[in-house]
Amino acid sequence: MEQAHEIQALAQEIHMVAMRAPAGVSQDPEASKRLRQLSKNLTSCLQTPDQVVMSTAYSGLKLACVRIAINMRLFDTLTRSDGPLGVKDLAKTCNADESFVLRVGRMLVEMRFIDEMDGGFSANAVTKHMTIPSVEAGMKIHFDQGFPILVHTPAYFEFNGYQVPISEDDSPFKWAFNTTDDVYTHWSKQPGVMETFSVFMQGMFQSSQWLAPTDWFPFDEVCFDSFDQARGDGYSFVEIGGGKGDRMQALVEKYPNARGKLLLQDTPAVIEDIAKSSRKLSCRIETMAYDFLDEQPITGAKTYFLENILHNWTDGVCLKILANVRQAMTRGYSKLLVSNIVMPDSGASLAETGLDILMLLCTGGSQRNDEQWHNLLETAGFRIVKIWMPPGAGNGVIEAAVDLGRQSVECPKAVSEVEVCLKE
Ligand SMILES: C[S@@+](CC[C@H](N)C(=O)[O-])C[C@H]1O[C@@H](n2cnc3c(N)ncnc32)[C@H](O)[C@@H]1O
Repeated sequence: MEQAHEIQALAQEIHMVAMRAPAGVSQDPEASKRLRQLSKNLTSCLQTPDQVVMSTAYSGLKLACVRIAINMRLFDTLTRSDGPLGVKDLAKTCNADESFVLRVGRMLVEMRFIDEMDGGFSANAVTKHMTIPSVEAGMKIHFDQGFPILVHTPAYFEFNGYQVPISEDDSPFKWAFNTTDDVYTHWSKQPGVMETFSVFMQGMFQSSQWLAPTDWFPFDEVCFDSFDQARGDGYSFVEIGGGKGDRMQALVEKYPNARGKLLLQDTPAVIEDIAKSSRKLSCRIETMAYDFLDEQPITGAKTYFLENILHNWTDGVCLKILANVRQAMTRGYSKLLVSNIVMPDSGASLAETGLDILMLLCTGGSQRNDEQWHNLLETAGFRIVKIWMPPGAGNGVIEAAVDLGRQSVECPKAVSEVEVCLKE
């Protein structure tokens, strides 16, 4: 009896915190984090094993309902509406059958993507979040490009003896799509896919928890203060594989007095998209179509920046990319900055484990821990100056310089078939 009272009081307290959360607790990142952890612990205590299993078994159905709702513009319609919409009105606006909207809608309510109200449906915070272009693009990419890979994944790993792919010629993605192209080349041949991916990368899932390096990393100290105009081609910052240039734009906005020239490099398709886009980058940002598997044409820049690039590739491809950067660097002056997840030894988050498995399936790449970053960069002839960790969730930044003591570099066994040519 006493326990029942306690549980009731606790439930009431949790309800009160939940009601206050949007205005109060969510403004305090530490309090929010603690509460999320507590509620996760509570949920895992209360959920029965069958509920955990069922939720996982139905996860594909959930994603399919979200993908259908995007096509029907259901999230936009509810977000634009002044109040709840009856099923009939929603079906009419979405050009759909009433009973179809009702059935998909019920699942979306269960998933908390929309609310049930007055016999119809209404928008909540998740509905509104789904109307952000990068969030919608992320759902499209994960469903349209990810699902066909997932379907083939168990057979692929059974066939390869449950090994991590060690060669870039081999991945569940290539197996699923029956292609020899890597994921980016494949996508650039499919109309609109690379554009959708680039929009997704602009904000990912628009996480307010995931810090960007421009929020905390001292780019001024590391890249701009010690820039020397007389060296190399006069660039202080070269971002390789920078996508649509959001990081560069944030950098220019944060450091308007940054010295030296700034350059964004990516594949021809992405650079063309930037030129065509109505959203203009700062005039300080130069762009260049460049394949990072070719020789780097910009020599002696103060900083070469790789964000979310190396996790895409096997060690073998990473060593090729790094060899091209190293060859262009001025010894004792240029810096390499790698912005990527640094995997914790335990308790990895969903963002970290999700991105790790995604890389395993799409590219044969992986998220690396401290030791793996040391192994990769040292094998490539770099010396790690410091691994900077964010003051919250987010990518770490690995600051590295050419290792002056290393003239030649041996490849580890796993990448022995890859020709890595580190010219001095
Ligand atoms: C995961 S995205 C990262 C984009 C950006 N750095 C970010 O963090 O948002 C990988 C980027 O690498 C680019 N890329 C893929 N293959 C490339 C290549 N061979 N040479 C240059 N860039 C390439 C893609 O076009 C894409 O913009």
